[in-house]
Amino acid sequence: MRIVLVGPPGAGKGTQATRLAGKLSIPHISTGDLFRANISRQTELGKLAKVSMDAGNLVPDELTIEMAKDRMQQPDAEDGFLLDGFPRNVSQAEALDELLTTEAIKLDAVLDLEVPGGEVIKRIAGRRICRSRSAHVFHVSYSPPKKQGVCDVCGGELYQRDDDSEETVRKRLEVYHTQTEPIIEYYKTQGLAVTISSLGPVDEVTRRALEALERED
Ligand code: AP5
Ligand code: ZN
Repeated sequence: MRIVLVGPPGAGKGTQATRLAGKLSIPHISTGDLFRANISRQTELGKLAKVSMDAGNLVPDELTIEMAKDRMQQPDAEDGFLLDGFPRNVSQAEALDELLTTEAIKLDAVLDLEVPGGEVIKRIAGRRICRSRSAHVFHVSYSPPKKQGVCDVCGGELYQRDDDSEETVRKRLEVYHTQTEPIIEYYKTQGLAVTISSLGPVDEVTRRALEALERED
């Protein structure tokens, strides 16, 4: 399957993407994780991306689209993928459509995770992420690690993202409403968008997502 996950910061895209990708045996491709990996390796791309990310803005399209295309063309993504955080504006959605047309493939569904702004702030304030490449996600109250500061899955160190301050989260939410939300309409006109609530226990949201994907299949 080829799936796009859309939703505001803190909607649970990363959390659900890991679970859905595992259940559907497709790679989880997160442009945010790819940028953070570049930042930790101190690559040129990482240095450029960090400036936009720290301000809560989108990284310029030319950098993002090239990186995402390159990742989608890796052998493990040949039979399907789950995109998390890409596309994030209409020009990225158009670039993705072009790539899909060139490769004669199609998206199966665009899953839109809906969550109120107040919940977003609570989720992001308590989020802790592991430094490993898999970037396992925890929450100090909703899904705390067994040992404080240590990843349950791989033993990696947990940290708080630089762009998770309340001020930056508000900016990211504004960017989401103005630049990303229009892609939901874009995909509705293609008959691909399906909206589910991301409130409630993580397992329950996964169940809703799988049910919605089955309906779209
Ligand atoms: P990105 O990394 O994509 O961040 P985001 O979209 O802001 O989303 P988040 O990672 O903040 O949240 P999430 O929805 O994944 O939630 P999570 O599962 O972690 O992008 C970061 C930046 O990179 C952007 O601002 C931009 O600068 C740049 N960028 C990335 N892609 C780009 C693109 N295509 N173009 C341009 N720039 C781009 O969950 C959040 C917390 O809630 C966790 O602690 C989790 O444990 C908890 N939680 C999850 N589900 C539940 C639940 N059901 N109940 C209770 N708690 C829950
Ligand atoms: Zn880990």
